[in-house]
Amino acid sequence: MKTVLITGCSSGFGLEIASFFLAQGWKVVATMRTPHQDLLPPSQNLKILALDVTSPESIHAALDAAGPVGVLVNNAGIGWLNAVEGTSMETARDLFETNTLGTIAMTQAVLPQMRERQEGVIVNVTSSVTLKPLPLLSVYTASKAAVNAFTESAALELEAFNVRVRIVLPGRAPQTRFGDTARSRLQKQGGFPEAYSSVVAGVFASWEKQSESALTQPGDVAEAVWRAATDPSSPLRIPAGADAEALAS
Ligand SMILES: NC(=O)c1ccc[n+]([C@@H]2O[C@H](COP(=O)([O-])OP(=O)(O)OC[C@H]3O[C@@H](n4cnc5c(N)ncnc54)[C@H](OP(=O)(O)O)[C@@H]3O)[C@@H](O)[C@H]2O)c1
Repeated sequence: MKTVLITGCSSGFGLEIASFFLAQGWKVVATMRTPHQDLLPPSQNLKILALDVTSPESIHAALDAAGPVGVLVNNAGIGWLNAVEGTSMETARDLFETNTLGTIAMTQAVLPQMRERQEGVIVNVTSSVTLKPLPLLSVYTASKAAVNAFTESAALELEAFNVRVRIVLPGRAPQTRFGDTARSRLQKQGGFPEAYSSVVAGVFASWEKQSESALTQPGDVAEAVWRAATDPSSPLRIPAGADAEALAS
């Protein structure tokens, strides 16, 4: 039986991906910064471990406790919406630390066992915002576009060891905690710069026009990750959700 280790399972896509793989009979290592034992149904196939992708000690402790990992899903991430001028360097560093360097660190940590076994899959969750430039998303998009580039290059060197690498690009999913986390960070930093109020109004107006059916559901992301993990003929980039699929076509 294969084992999948997923980062960022306390909510949103990560929680959905963990439930999906459990329902398919896989062994699931659901990792979270603060472990909550009651988020997923109890199962012999489920291990819940603490993991902060920005901490090397935490990464190594989690991988030691996980046992052999067949599939790694780098899902943990933080969002941010603001103008370049409204983004502190501390926030820019936090985004890259989690979204970009966290993914690289997890990949480095799991590769030796996959390379030795000559088998493994790494799925990196980025975003459909990397498919079309949008205002107020420069730093967030940069942190995810870097993961796309990292993954595409790594895919080539890992072919030699039968390790497959895939990118899942979800569209906008307002029902996860993503937006709330970004909003509370924004409020702490004093909001949007006054000079950008018309740009901000334009972004919110375009979101209001987006119909419910054109959004991404957590289930779309779980299915795309499943395809990435189980279908060797799947493409390197897999859009997830109606809006992401429209952008990718
Ligand atoms: N929702 C969207 O519109 C959307 C669209 C495209 C892509 N994405 C991407 O999809 C992924 C999942 O997002 P989501 O929408 O499911 O948001 P979410 O509900 O906020 O989930 C994000 C998860 O990442 C975890 N996390 C944050 N920093 C971490 C760290 N340092 N170490 C380990 N875990 C950490 C959070 O854990 P805590 O509970 O500890 O904070 C949470 O479990 C992210 O990579 C995001 O960039 C989201």
